[in-house]
This record gives sequence, structure tokens and C-alpha cells, in this order.
Amino acid sequence: MITPEIVQEIRQIVGQDYALDSALDLFGYSYDSSFLALFPPSLPELVVRPRTTEEVAQVMKIAYANSIPVTARGAASGRTGGSVPLRGGIVMCLERMTSVIELDEKNMMITVEAGVRTGDIYNLCAQKGLFYPPDPASFKISTIGGNIAEDAGGMRAVKYGVTHNFVMGLEVVLADGRVIKTGGKSIKNVTGYNLTQLFVGSEGTLGIVTKAVLRLLPMPKHRTTLLLMFESLDGACSTIHQMLQAGVVPAAAELMDGKCLVAIARNRPFEYPAAAQACIITEVDGAEQADILKQAEVIEKIAADNGVLEVRTAKSAQEADELWGVRRALSPAVGALAPDRVSEDISVPRNEFPEIVRRISAIAGKYKLNFAVYGHAGDGNLHPSILCDLSDPRQAEVVHKAVDEIFAETLKLGGTLSGEHGIGITKQNYLKNALGEDGVAVLKAIKMALDPKGILNPGKVWAEEGKIHG
Ligand code: LAC
Ligand code: ZN
Repeated sequence: MITPEIVQEIRQIVGQDYALDSALDLFGYSYDSSFLALFPPSLPELVVRPRTTEEVAQVMKIAYANSIPVTARGAASGRTGGSVPLRGGIVMCLERMTSVIELDEKNMMITVEAGVRTGDIYNLCAQKGLFYPPDPASFKISTIGGNIAEDAGGMRAVKYGVTHNFVMGLEVVLADGRVIKTGGKSIKNVTGYNLTQLFVGSEGTLGIVTKAVLRLLPMPKHRTTLLLMFESLDGACSTIHQMLQAGVVPAAAELMDGKCLVAIARNRPFEYPAAAQACIITEVDGAEQADILKQAEVIEKIAADNGVLEVRTAKSAQEADELWGVRRALSPAVGALAPDRVSEDISVPRNEFPEIVRRISAIAGKYKLNFAVYGHAGDGNLHPSILCDLSDPRQAEVVHKAVDEIFAETLKLGGTLSGEHGIGITKQNYLKNALGEDGVAVLKAIKMALDPKGILNPGKVWAEEGKIHG
């Protein structure tokens, strides 16, 4: 319970204008991009928008003393309810912490505050010939703090890895307001437990990340982007599978099925052969143009053996950007195809992704459900989306059965529940199936050690007894 006195104390720390409690503000900070329909909405009691780590720390001290839940939030572009304040309390929105503290060209590292947008980091580094690869679809709006909390992935993960592969060090405000620094610029560092990576992907449940040191790469000199249309989904899957087996190392290898093509064409001029049932967007990058062209040739040859209908090669950087723009806009375009959509983020060992796509198609057929399938096929991370109308009782019932089966098949193939969106609210009922009782017990022990009062993003990651969500 946040009393008027506590609100006053917090306003003295962050400034009168940066602790919001109007009905409109509370609603505005109550949801993310997960298509979660929480009725009634899960409102915070207070939205706090700190500018400095010190302010975050002071607010945490008050929250800790008064056992007030605190949910950290960046741009709320998350897909699993991570920034939804499930138990009310404070939403700690880090969107004003936008300083780039240092771009260290000599060490190829950048130090930023949590509220800096991922796309801004990319652009700033690119101006210096440096490269920050992680590129979640929402990277123009997502913040680095949110990316770190969820361990965001993106299109380039197949070659370069995900957010955690680039986080070298963190500044973290703990539940009781103490501030720690983890890791740093030393490339090799085994001093104590790897706390940096413990906080990455912890979904705001262990601490609030306020600063990060990120590793960079030299910007690749050349890249080629290809759009390939296929007469079958299986042909597109086989192409990606075979090109990886043939030694091609794509910077991205994205798959979309026929429904995705329909969704895109509803929103922008986008022509494709009438017979197309799937499409790949792939990119090859590197230092040598000749090597890139060779890899592109291998891709085209493999595609020809798998029923490719059309191959388009981007003729300019602008055309390549447009193709990636199509891909980045895909998720909302697919969502607009039906009143409701239930979207997953499964991840399988990459040799199994053609098989999981076949199994997903079989599940769709069995329950007579409309699916769109797309995702980062090159690294085995797919987003099957069930397009449905949950006000229809038959669909509401079978959607859950279909999701259960998708997860069961994913785990059977050695995969996992989430590749890049996290568990949040929407997938917590399945956590035990993936990690086992003992695995979940270890997560809880870590949580207890760092947040004994359970005030940091309560209700997330695992289902609390009697409080099932999703
Ligand atoms: C994407 C987001 C949903 O791949 O992860 O578009
Ligand atoms: Zn994705």
C-alpha cells in the first residue's frame, strides 16, 4: 500500500513531475506488447520515472522498507508481460535514463544507461565503424535495459548471438537499494560467480539494471540481402537447413509462411508469386565481397533444388533496409489478421526446426486452427501464432490444447519454451515441464537470496500457488 506520505517522499527524490498517479497514467503503464488480455487491467499505484541510478536506489530503499512491489519497465515492447505490474505497487520506468556514458573505440565497448534505445546504440556505433549486432524486431523503440532483462534476440542471432553474448558488465540496483557493479571491460574475467549473466534474462526479478557495458565488433564491410519465394513451406525450411549444413554462415535467415505473406501485403505494397506458400529473407555479410557472393550462390543453388519460385537480391542498402522493414513489421501485421492471436517463441536445436514446423502444421490441422508461422529459422527460434477468436468457446478451449502440444513437441525435440521473449506471465505454467521441479527450486533459491521480500516484479517467471496466469 502506497500512502500519500510515501508518494510525497518519492516525489522529493525524483521530482514532482516524475511520480505519476493519474488514472490515465496508471493505465498507460499497465500493459506491454504481449497481447495479454488482463481483465481488470493490472494497474500500478504509482509510476516513477527516475533520471539517475541514485534516484532508483533511493526509491528502492523506500519500496523495500514498505514491502512495495516494483516492476521495472523500458519501452514495454516485451511479449510475455514482463513489465506488467501484476501485483500493483510501483512501475519503475527507466525511459529517462538515456545517457551514452562512453563509446570506447579502443576497446570496442560502449557504456550506456538502461533507457537508451537499442537502435540508437546500433546507429551511434555504426557511425564509428563499430557494430552492435543484437536486433530484436522492435529495436527502433526497445531499450537496452529491457533487452537485457529479457535477453532479447533478433534476426542476427544466427551468426552473432543474442543480447547476453554482448553484455560485459552491469550496474544493478538491488531490492534493498544497494548498488553493485558486475563484470567490466576485461574480456577475460572469472573473479567470483558470473553475476553479469545471472541478471541478463532475469526479467526484473533479481535487480534493476541501470547501466551496461556492451562489447562491439567491427562493422562488416559488405552484405548481401536475398528474398526467396517458395511454393512450399517445407521447401523453405529445407533450404535454410541445407544451407547451414553446406557451411553457409548467414547473418540472418528468416522464415515466413503463406499467411505472413498475406499479412504483409495487406499493409504495404508487396508483390509475390501467387503460388508462393513461404518466403525466406536471408543476409550474408563479411569483409570480402567475393566470399559473400560465393555464399549467396550456394544459397540460390540449394533454393533451386527446393522449389524456389523467385529470388530477389537487394540492389542497394536502401532496398535491403526495406526488406528488413517488411520483416520487422511482421508481428503486428500478423496480429491484425484475427481478433485474437496467441503467439509463441519456441526454440529447438536448429537441425530440428524443419521437423517442429511439420509438427506445428499437424497440430493446426488436428484442432482446425488458423496458424501463421514465422521466425528466426536459422537459429531454430520460431514464433508460431495462432490466429483465433477467443470469444468463441470452441476456439478458446482448443487454443490451449494446441499450445500445450506445441510446447510438448518442442521439449521432445530437445527445445525450450522461449528463445528470446522470456517467461513473464504467459509461459509460466509450463516452466516446470522445461526445467523440472529441482531446476525451478534453484531459481527460487536465487530469487530468495537476492529479493527475500519478493518485491521485484512479483508474480513473474514461475506460477505462484493458486495464482495461475496466462
Ligand atoms: C519477431 C518478434 C516477435 O521476431 O520477436 O518479430
Ligand atoms: Zn523474434
